Amino acid sequence: MNGKTQNIVLGKKNIITKVLDAQNENKQDSIKTAAEILRNGGLVAIPTETVYGLAANALDPVAVEKIFQAKGRPQDNPLIVHIPDISWLEKYAEDIPEQAYRLAEAYWPGPMTIVLKKKSIIPSVVAAGLDTVGIRFPSNPIAREIIRAAGVPLAAPSANLSGKPSPTEALHVYNDLNGKIDAVVDGGPCGVGVESTVITLCDGTPRILRPGGITPEQMRKVIGRVDIDEAVTKKLKSGVKVASPGMKYKHYAPKAKVIIVDGDFSHFMDYVKNKKEENKRNAVLCFEGEERKIPMPAVIYGREGDADSQARGLFAALRKLDSIGAELAFAREPEKQGVGLAVYNRLLRAAAFDEEKG
Ligand code: TXA
Ligand code: MG
Repeated sequence: MNGKTQNIVLGKKNIITKVLDAQNENKQDSIKTAAEILRNGGLVAIPTETVYGLAANALDPVAVEKIFQAKGRPQDNPLIVHIPDISWLEKYAEDIPEQAYRLAEAYWPGPMTIVLKKKSIIPSVVAAGLDTVGIRFPSNPIAREIIRAAGVPLAAPSANLSGKPSPTEALHVYNDLNGKIDAVVDGGPCGVGVESTVITLCDGTPRILRPGGITPEQMRKVIGRVDIDEAVTKKLKSGVKVASPGMKYKHYAPKAKVIIVDGDFSHFMDYVKNKKEENKRNAVLCFEGEERKIPMPAVIYGREGDADSQARGLFAALRKLDSIGAELAFAREPEKQGVGLAVYNRLLRAAAFDEEKG
């Protein structure tokens, strides 16, 4: 891992991680138990429409600190604060520009995080020392009910070990964090599959720091000009200060070296034939149906030309690469339009910006 993590010994060793099912008749009990754990300063992974989040009471700095320990997350990477209603925005942010309300009216609840000037009630550990805070009102009904029942805003990064692909199923969370967190609420697979769009309104022209479930086009419809931060598609030069600290880390990475191959399927096949390495376990990340034409282990991550399905499938596919022991993986290039920009951004990071031009 690139960043520094604080090495604090956990107060409780060998926490038993409860799995709380929220898809059957026990749903209300599960929500109640999750809310109780959160109110008491514990950590609970919760489903959201984007990816599972590792939640703690955002107003309790001791609880929030445990998130960083459980994930092995660098201390300089701020957390998103999740609220259950637009009206809570003003409790935690100040100097809120008009554009924030317009975006919120249009796309909340949903996969969008707005970075605003923070109020002092938000502890500094949440914001990683910045004077801003990212706020999101998620649309997943289970997430909303848990926040309501807890009665406090929830700080929640993606519920993966730092550096690993974000979890889109409860099992992914369990595999990464069993024994490190109090509970995971199983709400089934996430509908969007990539994280929220992070937009800052604190810094001149509105700027997307991380592409996600709400597209730049959707945002421009509501507030006009929206820029896209350079770090979204370009590798940062070392020493450059980034607006969104998360963007500087190699992320979403399976153990395999990933190479994104652009161009059509036949170009992809030629490239793979020439560049596969005999002494390594090679694999491909491809679109549905292509696996039948590829004479090597293939993991599917959506349908060709369908950015939504690629978004839903990407993170599970990156984890699957690990489970089949892939060492070198050739990936079909995703759509770059709409939510595809987010898929492309995540895959670029998984590939450490290794892209082949065809
Ligand atoms: O969809 C999502 O956003 C999920 C679900 C759980 O809500 N959460 C998530 O959190 O992806 P995380 O921590 O894995 O990613 C948050 C990103 C990081 O890149 C972080 O640097 C950025 O948002 N971020 C958070 N607060 C920020 C702030 N105040 N200023 C700039 N960037 C911020
Ligand atoms: Mg994350």
